[in-house]
Amino acid sequence: MLNLKDSGLSNVWTHATEIVADNGDGVYIYDENGLKYLDFTSGIGVTNTGHCHPKVVSAIGRQAESLIFGQMNIVVHNPILELVKKLKKIVPEGLDKFFFANSGAEAVEAAVKLAKQATGRSNVVVFQGSFHGRTHLTMSMTTSKTVYRTQYQPLVSGIFVTPYPYSFYYGWDDDKTSRFAIKELERLLKSQTSPNETACIIIEPVLGEGGYVVPPAGFIKTLREICDEHGILLIADEIQSGFGRTGKYFAIEHEGVIPDIMVMAKGIASGMPLSGIAYRHELEKNWLKGSHGGTYGGNPVCCAAAVATIDVLEDENLVENASVRGKQLKDGLIILKRHDNRIGDVRGVGLMIATEFVKDNEPDPETAKAVIKEAASNKLLLLGCGTYGNVVRWIPPLIVNEEQIDKALKIFGDALGNI
Ligand SMILES: Cc1ncc(COP(=O)(O)O)c(C=O)c1O
Repeated sequence: MLNLKDSGLSNVWTHATEIVADNGDGVYIYDENGLKYLDFTSGIGVTNTGHCHPKVVSAIGRQAESLIFGQMNIVVHNPILELVKKLKKIVPEGLDKFFFANSGAEAVEAAVKLAKQATGRSNVVVFQGSFHGRTHLTMSMTTSKTVYRTQYQPLVSGIFVTPYPYSFYYGWDDDKTSRFAIKELERLLKSQTSPNETACIIIEPVLGEGGYVVPPAGFIKTLREICDEHGILLIADEIQSGFGRTGKYFAIEHEGVIPDIMVMAKGIASGMPLSGIAYRHELEKNWLKGSHGGTYGGNPVCCAAAVATIDVLEDENLVENASVRGKQLKDGLIILKRHDNRIGDVRGVGLMIATEFVKDNEPDPETAKAVIKEAASNKLLLLGCGTYGNVVRWIPPLIVNEEQIDKALKIFGDALGNI
């Protein structure tokens, strides 16, 4: 058994389990003793094609043998050019320029820096409950939990927070919640950050760490209209919701809205560190050459993994599978909810689904934590989220099959019965 305390690993990391992962295969992860776990976390939405998909593994191997690194300020390489071609086919229409980095937070930084220079404006609007990363800028944009900011203050200035339309939290229907959130945003633009100082509004089209919340239909469309009215750029943070997760390549497609800048990471390269932004070419007219970049961004091995990832998503119809299996999972969870009043809400789209636990109409993190622990002891890995820690998120790899969903539902149902 691993003794984490004496392992030499930094204490700043939280660990959902103490499993020492030895190898992964599809939906499964194996520990060093060969114990097999059904991984319904996908490493927080990263391994959308499953662990070690053979086509991704082979692309990585081939690329590593020919060129491990080609620094973007010095040379350009084929994997990155090929990736751009692939991405152009799947990102929302009109987003025709791409910049690559390594982590999600770095890509969010790139998006905000571009928005500032493109508009000549300084301020950023974020949504309550958002998670955009942990660098100094992105932690200042993150409002899902105070732990990400405590004792790091003062934070980066010029960031303004507006309510996410989280109907279950407010206890209202979608219409009322949507109207409230729009009214509050309009008030923010009247009272705290005037439109002519506001560079961008950034939204997670499905809120991730903040609780797996799907905004009411039409909300993002209205957001687009407000941005257009004021010349504010709309940024979609698709880091967790992208690459087929919600049953579309990108969650914003459910609303038929095209953002000005889209941020991608996680599922883009099946676990290789790659992130990026896609944007309309007009925006970069004022993006000062050399004012942004990074040593490793667009690494050829990572780009080759991303190209293979997109091929696998296409060849194996994984985006469609996310819809079909997502429905099976959500239906199964709704049945469990009918028999268990600790589950206050089941929501989500595709394979980005939440079960929110409540007790006497208040958040119930104890039950959420207990059920995650009990499920892990029965070899199902799940992850929590939400400001109050009372939400269980369901994000299996998109290759998950009917039997595996049934198995996970059974383990979860039994775990609920045991706690
Ligand atoms: C929506 C969203 N944005 C940004 C990030 C930050 O990404 P990274 O942890 O790769 O910096 C995350 C990570 O969970 C995320 O879910």
